[in-house]
Amino acid sequence: MDFVLWASRLMHVVSVVVWFGGLIFLNVVMLPVSHHEGESRSKAAVGALHRFNGFVWSSLWTALITGLLLMLLSPRFLWFEYSTLWQKLLAAKQVAFLLAGFFSWQTAKVVGRMEETQNEPDAYERWRLTYVRLIRRTIFCGIVGFLSAAGMEVL
Ligand code: HEM
Repeated sequence: MDFVLWASRLMHVVSVVVWFGGLIFLNVVMLPVSHHEGESRSKAAVGALHRFNGFVWSSLWTALITGLLLMLLSPRFLWFEYSTLWQKLLAAKQVAFLLAGFFSWQTAKVVGRMEETQNEPDAYERWRLTYVRLIRRTIFCGIVGFLSAAGMEVL
């Protein structure tokens, strides 16, 4: 059982680091640079956003499955019980995860719109700004998730 616990813990951390770390890279490096260089509508820039969608979904499902395993293997977890701070933080993390999942679903749709409007600068720019807004909301949910996890560890 120890192996399952540690493998789940490792894959849980790696999956949320790939997911939110990738979004932070897009938000503070790739998108500002490609926009500043006038390359935000380029095949490479849009192709990278499309390809990263796949990583988001594989990370999201891995984080969910390993999170459920960690939850079910924890002696501190009781069904429908939110009396302890650990249980409250777990609930906060699950709400943050659901919101991040919802924003990621919307983000995937927006990437589709960006691909459709690649040759229409004004329409593309509107979708690009929507994309930036959505990934920033997702990153915020990730920060709530990490802070909740830190609280769960020390308490
Ligand atoms: C926003 C998404 C999430 C982030 C950023 C996140 C992050 C983390 C991190 C960094 C840890 C610490 C791992 C360690 O102790 O080595 C952790 C542990 C854990 N996570 Fe998540 N997680 C997320 C979503 C979830 C979800 C959706 C669940 C449950 C369905 C979950 C359940 C757990 C549990 C039970 C632990 C172990 C806590 C303990 O040992 O006290 N996590 N998480």
